[in-house]
Amino acid sequence: MSQPSFRQMTTTQPQTNSKQRGDQLTKRQYVRFAFYKVDPIWRRLPSQKQAEHKQELLETIQSFNRRMLLRPYSLMGTRADAELLLWQIAESPIPFQELAAAIMNTAMGGYLSLVYSYFSQTKRSIYEIRDNPEEDIERLIIQPSEARYLFVYPFIKTRDWYQLSLPARQGMMDEHIIVGRKYPSVRLNTTYCFGLDDYEFIVAFETDEPSDFLDLVQELRETEASRYTKQDTPLFTCINMRLAEALDALGGPPIAQPVEEDKQWEEWVEVAPLEDFPPGEQRVVYLAGQQVALFNIDGQLHAISNRCSHARGPLSEGDIEHEEDGTCSVHCPWHYTKFDIATGQPVDGVATIPVPTYNVEVRNGVIFVGIQPE
Ligand code: FES
Repeated sequence: MSQPSFRQMTTTQPQTNSKQRGDQLTKRQYVRFAFYKVDPIWRRLPSQKQAEHKQELLETIQSFNRRMLLRPYSLMGTRADAELLLWQIAESPIPFQELAAAIMNTAMGGYLSLVYSYFSQTKRSIYEIRDNPEEDIERLIIQPSEARYLFVYPFIKTRDWYQLSLPARQGMMDEHIIVGRKYPSVRLNTTYCFGLDDYEFIVAFETDEPSDFLDLVQELRETEASRYTKQDTPLFTCINMRLAEALDALGGPPIAQPVEEDKQWEEWVEVAPLEDFPPGEQRVVYLAGQQVALFNIDGQLHAISNRCSHARGPLSEGDIEHEEDGTCSVHCPWHYTKFDIATGQPVDGVATIPVPTYNVEVRNGVIFVGIQPE
């Protein structure tokens, strides 16, 4: 297996600007896959203790939601040696270290083993993705989907691969990508760990159809690039669920609240004291598993999705423009679509779909960003 991106996207942008735009983008994301397993002794504790332990662990992990994008998965029933995955994405490795320590400091931490841990970073591919030259820029930003399944494995190429000429490798990657395009239901997130961890890549495929992933992997075995795979195991099949449900899957009395499908929900995240976020500042905030771009424009706070509706460009890194009519816009740094910062509406450029907006409140001098029922 190798590391192309398979997701189909279209663009109207000229190809010649692709490299320039990517080079302007400096922020790459750090990614961690932490797999845990519970000591069987924990399952023999009184159920009251189990519930308390899970609740404490739940609140501890959730307290990091504003510092990283965090997705929980269960591996109960799919692997013998791992039971819980916390997929973490952040702008720096520090929140990973602090979360790992906080988990181990909970009562349940005494019964948890970190059985696998992969640490990596997003990066532009050196190979051209000929049918979508923008795609390698888009891959700098991981935006997990709501797919039911995630397949994760570390990956190493043979050293012979790196001795081949770039055109020779590009040719094999082209074949690889063509196979991948036959399975549009499978979306790939490739991250790099040369020098950061024991491997070269950590790949994570998202899909609702495990059989599509199986067929894809089997077909990729027949490609020429497959001859240059040195390692692509262990392979983890992970099931996406709410954190409380993933903890309940470990055992003990349930703590997850039932989901009311049609119920509108409210969620707020504390960001920072207002004095630490003065006019002219802009940054990313994590809210309910989404990245939010927060701006302080001349003392007015605005929050919109950090993901451009065109191809996920990071709006928190965009330039601000004051319009003649008194409104304010942010330029997507990738293809320069302008979005009204108050409404999320695109006002110029290739994007046509508005980006979501979020509520911002200052309570006792502290900024909160939130989602409220209509
Ligand atoms: S990602 Fe293309 S305009 Fe924003």
